[in-house]
Amino acid sequence: MSATSTAQPYKTRRTFAIISHPDAGKTTLTEKLLLGGGAIRAAGQVRARGERRRARSDWMKIEQERGISVSSSVMTFERDGYTFNLLDTPGHEDFSEDTYRTLTAVDAAIMVIDAAKGIETQTRKLFEVCRLRDIPIITFINKIDREGRNTLEILDEIQEALALDVTPMAWPVGMGSDFFGVYDPLGKRYFTSTEGRTGAFDELKQLSGPDDEVLTSTVFENVLAELQENVEMGLELYPEFDQEAFLEGHLTPVFFGSALKDYGIDQVLDFIAAYAPAPHSQPATGGRTIVPEENKVTGFVFKVQANMDPKHRDRIAFVRLCSGTFKRGMKLKHVRAGKPITVSAPIFFFAEERELAEKAYPGDVIGVPNHGQLRVGDTLSEGEEIHVTGLPAFAPEILRRVRLSDTMRVKQMRRGLEDLAEEGLVQIFKPAIGTNWIVGVVGVLQLDVVVDRLKAEYQTEISFETAMYNTARWIECDDKLKLDRFLEANRAHVAMDRDDRPVYLFKNAWEVSYISEKNTDIRFRETREIVHTS
Ligand code: G4P
Repeated sequence: MSATSTAQPYKTRRTFAIISHPDAGKTTLTEKLLLGGGAIRAAGQVRARGERRRARSDWMKIEQERGISVSSSVMTFERDGYTFNLLDTPGHEDFSEDTYRTLTAVDAAIMVIDAAKGIETQTRKLFEVCRLRDIPIITFINKIDREGRNTLEILDEIQEALALDVTPMAWPVGMGSDFFGVYDPLGKRYFTSTEGRTGAFDELKQLSGPDDEVLTSTVFENVLAELQENVEMGLELYPEFDQEAFLEGHLTPVFFGSALKDYGIDQVLDFIAAYAPAPHSQPATGGRTIVPEENKVTGFVFKVQANMDPKHRDRIAFVRLCSGTFKRGMKLKHVRAGKPITVSAPIFFFAEERELAEKAYPGDVIGVPNHGQLRVGDTLSEGEEIHVTGLPAFAPEILRRVRLSDTMRVKQMRRGLEDLAEEGLVQIFKPAIGTNWIVGVVGVLQLDVVVDRLKAEYQTEISFETAMYNTARWIECDDKLKLDRFLEANRAHVAMDRDDRPVYLFKNAWEVSYISEKNTDIRFRETREIVHTS
């Protein structure tokens, strides 16, 4: 398969993420996709990639010296004329906010399911996020080299639990100790191993069908019977692959495979190149939709990663390009700040190296080093006063007060918390009464990370104590006078977020509904657009 259009290079971009429940095999699959894409070698050596190598920077060295670890946030590789941008989503559910924002920057997702476990809680949650955003899903049922559940049962579970049509694109030829390989019913191809049942995939055979002699002469009778039945039933029970339904998020192609034993990897990559969408258009303020074909560059920051070294305050803002052709050295408008920035050292993230990004197209992700100016949700444009929309902030479900061990370090603590809030790790609220900031997070694990990072990066020891409140809602009202009156009358419950937007602090869920019912003119919002227009 080769790229179809060089005139519009964005059409050859495939920007995607992997969603899964922890332990389903996301890390293993990521590694194998990178191997399959030629981005890394088994020994960990990077393959030469022709002209791109010229632009190689000494970014790696900088990264090592400064101890930054951004390697896994985005991984770019090229294969058969396509550029794959794989965006990492943090596995732990406590970081779902970060995950959510990362999913705003992808055009498709691979959903990895453990063949023995089926759909698990985190898979379902992440799937729902994808559905909200109409992100097409490719399903990879992993670990078929181990004993798994019945294949039809898993397919039915996906269909029912996720209300999604499924089209099997591959069938396992046995599982566990009876695992022989994978059969592709459309191409009548058999993926197997020269080493027999325990081996990794290394042999592809073209067959006449599921009753081909290659299978009948090698595979156990019961395994063959099940395969033949699956192929037959598959045609009857499940719809044919329909690209439109897939792109609309109504249908998922299902691949059975083993990330560990290399089954299904090439098939999935081929599929993504052929059928996954090219970069989509992006909603923006003023009813505008940014389309990739536009000449002028626009992009938005979906993630910021700070330096781990306290001596250097640099950060990397991950920018997904939405339109135009970006060239290194370009002056772009940082719309929120109303100031131009010259992007002189944009970075591409390859699996094991960084390169200066000389040119980038819609769908590509570039890292923009900066000193904290760029925040999650920010838009960069070639002058246009426009903000990309669709990046939400979620009301925190856990609120804590910060207790400082050494009160002399209040300045460092505040700077540290501001920095971490800029990264999107925490939210901070400044109460209308009192000076003690309140920290809000979506999951408790984030609190540990805050404590560790303030200690390591800002030499400031803090602990958290329970706040009087447990949850926050952004307060909105179309009538400014009414809003001001409400804020004044409820000062004890009001705090401001980093963008000076008021929130109401509630003790519990009961209070949320009680106060909301008493103040029907006021909207108490669980999410807000992250767009910074201040
Ligand atoms: P995650 O990122 O989704 O959390 O999963 P990860 O890839 O780390 O895989 C979790 C465990 O499942 C690992 O085993 C990994 O080797 C195993 N695994 C992943 N894919 C397959 C597969 O296709 N077949 C089989 N049999 N196992 C698979 P572990 O024992 O936790 O770690 P390790 O010591 O093997 O690295």
